[in-house]
Amino acid sequence: MGKKIFSGVQPTGNLHLGNYIGAIKNFVDLQNQEGNECVYCVVDLHAITAKQDPIILKNNIRETTATFLASGIDSKKSIIFNQSLVPAHSEGSWILGCIARMGWLNRMTQFKEKAGKDKEKASVGLYIYPVLMTADILLYDATHVPVGEDQKQHLELSRDIAQKFNLDFNAPNFLRAPEPLIQKNFSRIMSLKDGTNKMSKSDPSDLSRINLTDHKDQIMNKIKKAKTDNDPLPDDDENLSQRPEVENLLGIYSSLSGQSLKNSINEFSGKNFSEFKEKLAELVVEKISPISVEINKLQKDTSYIDTILKEGGKRANSIASKKVEEMKKIIGF
Ligand code: TYM
Repeated sequence: MGKKIFSGVQPTGNLHLGNYIGAIKNFVDLQNQEGNECVYCVVDLHAITAKQDPIILKNNIRETTATFLASGIDSKKSIIFNQSLVPAHSEGSWILGCIARMGWLNRMTQFKEKAGKDKEKASVGLYIYPVLMTADILLYDATHVPVGEDQKQHLELSRDIAQKFNLDFNAPNFLRAPEPLIQKNFSRIMSLKDGTNKMSKSDPSDLSRINLTDHKDQIMNKIKKAKTDNDPLPDDDENLSQRPEVENLLGIYSSLSGQSLKNSINEFSGKNFSEFKEKLAELVVEKISPISVEINKLQKDTSYIDTILKEGGKRANSIASKKVEEMKKIIGF
């Protein structure tokens, strides 16, 4: 039987190779597997948990949509839309916020990271953000949610919330607890400048990430400058975890070439870093440049992008509004 897939990406600009390898590339693979029904959402309601400039936000919603399309998500096969077009996400989120417990949310490590030292100044939205994410998933009865490693805890929470709702209202199996789809390898792509930090949109150094809109020369330059160490390339994976930068670059190479880490290690053992980096840069350019060219092209046609979102929004709305109506009935509204 096919899977019901839901996933989302925040339109906060600077989508990067981590987003591609950890999430978007898998969105495309899942879409292309027979029988799957996929919903891919540009989660603009999530984006406003941090302050956004309205004009830049609008631009980023279109850019993220263009990235989906340029990466191979097909609006005929999958539903593509932005979250704010479908009111059920906000409504469902409120209801589920009354199910989730403070203690559960207090454990979320991403909130702690994002809120930083001064928690009191973080928005309330940032705190309850995993509840909105839960509503996103549960409204579509998603069976599987492809994400990077950093979203694992949020998915566990969504399972807990689904189960508590079903239990509280004696509605067995009404909300479906989703399975995370996290790749075993390559689910956490690290910064090119520090292999102990994940590649991130918010890193102040642009050299730390490959943006999906980077040109060929930028990609080559960033890989050339990527941090490595003074030892030769490894012959096996024994001590690789102690060499996070090298592990990360070999991981990127493996993921984009579709081969195992072991094969990549064998391919480059005994070779020097300049040779490896050259091959890696060629591969990243080969895979990412066509996407970046297509994003640029698509972005010029804003009305095309807006039509895709609107059409997707209608399809998403017909699913999500029904589910939220059923939720309301169960609650006693
Ligand atoms: P976001 O927008 O931060 O990231 C989008 C996707 O990219 C993955 N990712 C990475 N994977 C590997 N290595 C990295 N360095 C890396 N950085 C980011 C993320 O794990 C994610 O899969 N809360 C979510 C968006 C969301 C969502 C949802 C996801 C909202 N509702 C419902 C799934 C289902 C987020 O902020 O992702």
